[in-house]
Formats: sequence, C-alpha cells, structure tokens
Amino acid sequence: MFILNLHMMKMFLLLLFGQVTSPGKHSLKFYLTASSGVSAFPDFVAVAKLNEVELAYYDSSIKRTELKQDWMIRLLGDDPHRSDRTKQNCMNYHKVFKEETDTFKKRFNQTGGVCVVQEMAGCEWDDETGDVTGYQQYGYDGEDFISLDLKTETWVAPKPQAVITKHKWDGDKARNVFWKNFVTQSCIEKLKRYLINGKSSLQRTVLPSVSLLQKTPSSPVSCHATGFYPDRASMFWRKDGEEIHEDVDHGEILPNHDGTFLMRVDLNISSVKPEDWSRYDCVFQFSGVKKDVITKLDKAEIRTNWGKSWTRNNEVPPSEFPAAVIGVVVGLLLLLVCITGLFIWRKKKNNGFKRANTSDSSDKNPRHNNGNKDELNDHSSQ
Ligand SMILES: *[C@@H]1O[C@H](CO)[C@@H](O)[C@H](O)[C@H]1NC(C)=O
Ligand SMILES: *[C@@H]1O[C@H](CO)[C@@H](O)[C@H](O)[C@H]1NC(C)=O
Repeated sequence: MFILNLHMMKMFLLLLFGQVTSPGKHSLKFYLTASSGVSAFPDFVAVAKLNEVELAYYDSSIKRTELKQDWMIRLLGDDPHRSDRTKQNCMNYHKVFKEETDTFKKRFNQTGGVCVVQEMAGCEWDDETGDVTGYQQYGYDGEDFISLDLKTETWVAPKPQAVITKHKWDGDKARNVFWKNFVTQSCIEKLKRYLINGKSSLQRTVLPSVSLLQKTPSSPVSCHATGFYPDRASMFWRKDGEEIHEDVDHGEILPNHDGTFLMRVDLNISSVKPEDWSRYDCVFQFSGVKKDVITKLDKAEIRTNWGKSWTRNNEVPPSEFPAAVIGVVVGLLLLLVCITGLFIWRKKKNNGFKRANTSDSSDKNPRHNNGNKDELNDHSSQ
C-alpha cells in the first residue's frame, strides 16, 4: 500500500496543471476542485496562481486561505477582516460549487463512487500586444463539461449530459454577465496589481541546477533542470555547438511546489559513438537573459542507479533524484487511478481538460522503487 497525504495531492495538482506560457503573457487563474469518494483528499480545494506560481491555497479541511508568496502576505496578509472575508467567500463558493457538482453527477446518473469536478476561471494579459482573454469552464472526471463563451454570454456544452445545464445557465443572464466581467475586468485588474506588487519576486531569475540522468544503460540521457524561475526558458541538446533535433525528446515545463520550475530534454545516445560523446552538450537558457547553463555530455557526470558509474556519484543517494521524485509522484497518481478509478486530468495547451494518460503503467520508473518511502517522507516533511 502507499501513503497518500495532502501534500502529495497538492503536488499532483501542481504537476497536472502545469503549462507553458508564451513571452509577454501573464495569467491569473483560479482552480477549484471538488472531489467525492477520495478519502485522503479534501472535498474542495481552491488554488490561485499567477503566471503558474501558486499565490494562495484553500481547502475544506483546513478552512483557511494560505498565502504562498511573501509579497502577497505583505499586500494582503495583515488584515484579519480580509482573511475572514476570504474564508467566508471560499466556504460560500464551496457550497455553490457543491450544488453544481451534485447536479453534474445527476446528469451522469452517478450516485456514488469517485467523481472529480473542476472549475477553472481566470484571465490572461499580454503585456506586448495588450490582448486580454478570460475563461470560465468546468470539467467532469477529466473531460470538458461546460464553458462560458464570453462573446455570446452563453454556455458551450461539448457533452450531451451538459445540455440541460447549458439551457438552465443560459437563462441566468446576470450570472453570465457577472462571470464575463469577472474574468475580463476584475481578474485583469487583480492580475496587473499583483504583477506590480510581486515585481521583484516575479522579475527575478534563478538558474536551475542541471543534472544528467539515465535509467538504464540503453535509455536516453535525460538533461534535467530544476529550481529555475521564471518558466520562460528553453533547453536543448547541441552537437559541436549546433542545436540538434534528431533523437531529442523535449519534456514540458512543470511547476515545482516551491514556485520554481523544472524541465527535461532527453537525448537518445544509442547511435552516438563513445568517442563522440564530448561533442554533445545540453544548454539551458532563459529567453532574453544571456546566462546559459551548459552541461557537457560526460559519462562520468551521469547519475544512474546501476553499476560502477553509480559509485562515482555516490554522494547523491538515489532518493534525491529529481526525476525519481517526479516518477514516484506520477507513479502514485497512476496507481491511484488504477485503484480507485479516479480520473485526474491535465490541462491541454488550449486550457481544455483531458484525461491523464493512464496507458503507461504505474511501474514507469521501476528502478526508483527502493527509494519511494524516503521520498514520500522527504516530501511530506517539506
Ligand atoms: C440516466 O438515467 C435515465 C433514466 O434511467 C436515462 O434515460 C438516461 O439516459 C441516463 N443517462 C445517462 C447519461 O446514462
Ligand atoms: C533510440 O534510437 C534507436 C536507434 O536509432 C532506436 O532503436 C530506439 O528505439 C531509440 N530509443 C528511444 C527510447 O527512442
């Protein structure tokens, strides 16, 4: 059996909703999740994120809003009335959301069992073009359920089960106008205000620590960067100083739980002759910042869990592999999917929902199994 705690669930949320942002674009997003039948997870979780970095967190078990950034605490934190209000708002919204969720469940004839409903409301502002976009949408068990079309102020129902809800909600003009104003005006105002207040934190750049990882002697070499900020970064492999695309697999940029980001880019080295290794390097760079982090492809520097090369790097225990941590989290998630049938979704680039990929088994990183328990403990103690 595995131990699933709240922190792990938070990690899932952060991992699953990670998204690449384009230059100039800023976003303020509210993610609300209602779940039933998952005992270790609170019924209701609300997370606010600015440029994909967590600003605030609320859930129905702690019944308190936690501000996640120092500048947010400076901006909002000292006012007890505000925090009471926020708490009250969250509790009220939990009630509203629960009613909506219960209705959705009826549409699917779902009376018991595990069910997850998610709402995403938010806005994006491009500081280069001035473009503003907003959205308000719901997902049911990992798939798009209903979303608000801001132009027509009506709801779009991609699923037949959502059609009744669509007709009902379409009739509630005041509510639709409220949401439209919220995502296109209040949200944008808040976003701009937060960008100013959080400027020093948001404009900082933190270089990543980069490691080379390899699962088995025949696996691709993974260049893994973690701890960087902001997420406007790229990473690629070079041969003789030229970027290469063949035999390269780029991973997505994902958020760490501490507000920094991680990413990887893999190089399939099966056709690289040993004497050619020194011609390759992995480059991490921020867009618009000159400082690159360059890591040479060097057998001696690769962290592995097998054989002799491990002993050379034995100052780093396997349980501290960043990739291992991710592997475990994803593994546990998949395990959870297997055990409970819970569908958790990850966001597509267009802000839609989709089911998490369950086709690769929970045993994605078998070599990391030894360290699992320690990693769980490491995580939960943070
Ligand atoms: C729910 O049950 C009703 C009545 O039994 C049925 O007509 C309807 O098609 C069902 N809906 C779904 C989504 O299964
Ligand atoms: C790496 O490349 C070899 C030959 O080019 C191919 O057979 C193998 O499937 C590739 N491995 C991965 C993990 O893509």
